[in-house]
Amino acid sequence: MTPLEEHLRRLIAVEGPLTIGRFMAEVLGHPRWGYYATRDPLGRAGDFITAPEVSQMFGELLGLWSIERWQAMAAPDRLLWVELGPGRGSLTADALRAAGAVAAFGAAIEVHLVETSPTLRAIQERTLADHAPIWHQRLAELPAAPAIFIANEFFDALPVRQWQRTAEGWRERQVGPGDDGLRLVLAPPAPPPEMPAALATAPIDGVVEIAPARQAVMAELAGHIVEHGGAGLIVDYGHAVSAPGDTLQAVKDHRYAPILADPGEADLTAHVDFQALGAAAREAGAQAWPVIEQGAFLRRLGIEARAGMLKAGADAAQAADIDRALHRLTAADQMGSLFKVMAVTVPGDGPPAGFEDAA
Ligand SMILES: C[S@@+](CC[C@H](N)C(=O)[O-])C[C@H]1O[C@@H](n2cnc3c(N)ncnc32)[C@H](O)[C@@H]1O
Repeated sequence: MTPLEEHLRRLIAVEGPLTIGRFMAEVLGHPRWGYYATRDPLGRAGDFITAPEVSQMFGELLGLWSIERWQAMAAPDRLLWVELGPGRGSLTADALRAAGAVAAFGAAIEVHLVETSPTLRAIQERTLADHAPIWHQRLAELPAAPAIFIANEFFDALPVRQWQRTAEGWRERQVGPGDDGLRLVLAPPAPPPEMPAALATAPIDGVVEIAPARQAVMAELAGHIVEHGGAGLIVDYGHAVSAPGDTLQAVKDHRYAPILADPGEADLTAHVDFQALGAAAREAGAQAWPVIEQGAFLRRLGIEARAGMLKAGADAAQAADIDRALHRLTAADQMGSLFKVMAVTVPGDGPPAGFEDAA
């Protein structure tokens, strides 16, 4: 039994079964035994690989996207670059290297990182030493200034709660003790939480996911933009339109794993409901642009041209790597369709780069 499972069993003994949201928060974020506290999970040697770890092109294009937003804001001389859940710091490093070509943008930038994992923070300290970042546990700690927010594969790590529609009514899915390990249990029927109409019509036995923690972070992000100016770019796997479905998944060694086995030893995520996230941004007074697929977004920002430039200076093996990365990031059967991109701006701002069709 992992130390985290022992901890969860003790919690359940005192409090009763845990909501899926509480279980996720403990598994990922427990300060001593949580998944992110105990390891660097990224890359080929880890459990999963993310877009900035696939290729420098991803961060570079997001850096150029940010320059366009900064210019649209009349180029303020102080701009917070805020990355949520920066992993190894690769995205910020690539983005600011590319964007630093515009000297005034580079001079305006102040790097802020929202990160709860001490292990990953130590890696970010090395990767981003030249940028003298300032770390935060929460968005509320940010200074009052215009900000570009970047979140890649961050929202999927924030907890979701699940409810199942049964013949007896809505029942919350919870984690309780089993004879051998933990097991899923259903709470007694109770009035359901407020949910979008598309979820409320789930069929009998259907599962719906609601993520108050994600909605709260998006509300804070949008509130900052409305009050101080700026923009946000959210990239994650998920669906553009709210729909019922159990998307909770565990991944270890680049493979799906059972959700309740060895808690703290596998990553645990759920797909992002972008419609709900957009609604949270709008409720906070911001403009959320229609969601587009990652492949289309990166092509509109010029990823093919960037790959061509990199290949011009590469040997045959490096050129093949660049082609593989381009395919991985953009192809519909890779990350190109499952991953979605949402931009958040101040109401009245023109469309950010890549979102022109939505104007
Ligand atoms: C899947 S990794 C993505 C890393 C990076 N964005 C990338 O694309 O490579 C999730 C990141 O979010 C951080 N994280 C998870 N939950 C968090 C929370 N509640 N608050 C702040 N950071 C969190 C993790 O430590 C990690 O840096």
